[in-house]
Amino acid sequence: MSADLLEIDELGCSLPVRGEWRAVLDGVSMSVGAGRTVGIVGESGSGKSMLTRTVLGLAPAGARVTGSVRLAGEDITSPGPAVQRRLLGARIAVVFQDPMTALNPVVRIGRQLTEPMRFHLGLDRAAARARAADLLAKVGVPDPDQQLRQYPHQLSGGMRQRVTIAAALSCDPEILFADEATTALDVTVQKQILDLLTEVQRDRDMALVLISHDLGVIAGRTDDVFVMYGGRLVERAPTEVFFTRHRHRYSAALVDSIVRRDHPRHGEFRTIPGRPPVPGTVAGCPFAPRCPAAGDECRESAPPLHQDTGDARLAHRCLHPVNGDPA
Ligand SMILES: Nc1ncnc2c1ncn2[C@@H]1O[C@H](COP(=O)(O)OP(=O)(O)OP(=O)(O)O)[C@@H](O)[C@H]1O
Ligand SMILES: [Mg+2]
Repeated sequence: MSADLLEIDELGCSLPVRGEWRAVLDGVSMSVGAGRTVGIVGESGSGKSMLTRTVLGLAPAGARVTGSVRLAGEDITSPGPAVQRRLLGARIAVVFQDPMTALNPVVRIGRQLTEPMRFHLGLDRAAARARAADLLAKVGVPDPDQQLRQYPHQLSGGMRQRVTIAAALSCDPEILFADEATTALDVTVQKQILDLLTEVQRDRDMALVLISHDLGVIAGRTDDVFVMYGGRLVERAPTEVFFTRHRHRYSAALVDSIVRRDHPRHGEFRTIPGRPPVPGTVAGCPFAPRCPAAGDECRESAPPLHQDTGDARLAHRCLHPVNGDPA
């Protein structure tokens, strides 16, 4: 049986908050095939970044991680420093929203780009430098040779983000997580960068995980959609199914919010009354307090994952689903 490139099984992450464990991620299962593009959506605070960090072995210090993460069959859950050095940036890469978290402010761009390539790809200085300049040109940085000599603060925010994207692609990763990677950029640049990621994804058969508040981005560019809410995966579906025949009431509210053209700002979907919960603080369905269909049964315990018998890509956690027979 061929396994998917990335397999996440019942992943949980708990953090100590005021002397108690709080499950900021709970029972998240998903998989990503080689060369596929998947989207992760959900309001601010739903656990998208925590999921990314936990998968990459970057959970906050003191976190308790449960479940498993496998990359091409290798168990990489909570990797030690040696495994981390071998994988991160080489086989599995990430771009976060804020480029300054990825760049070292006191090291020139050139060195930051070339060192991983020398370490992981065994390139000599000149070859790494040439490849770095090439990558910068590819992500739309003008005059790459000049930029390689700069420090991060000498570049604009948009240029810095292009540099982190070049860095993420530099060692030909098998999978790239783009966690709101283009959110801070203006719309034209955003499109350019997303187009570039799509091009690289196709050319190199790289898997791409697009994390975005923008359902328009998700609709046009992904094969599968994963919906996070309150630290849980509440629905997964092939993209075309998600937009037309989603099951979870939260997914319905999300899709409804774009139909009404109420574009989310700062991660809030304003047509959904109320706010999402802090993950790990609700016993039942995390969406119950905002859900028009919720009953007592929804508040008592978290609904189990209901898997479609015919298609493993389809699953949801809703006791009163829309579009079809009850779960
Ligand atoms: N170090 C921490 N200790 C305790 N709780 C934390 C910590 N870091 C994050 N959290 C909590 O984990 C939850 C998930 O946060 P996360 O950043 O993953 O959300 P997100 O979906 O990425 O949101 P956004 O769309 O705003 O980026 C939040 O409720 C946040 O308060
Ligand atoms: Mg986030």
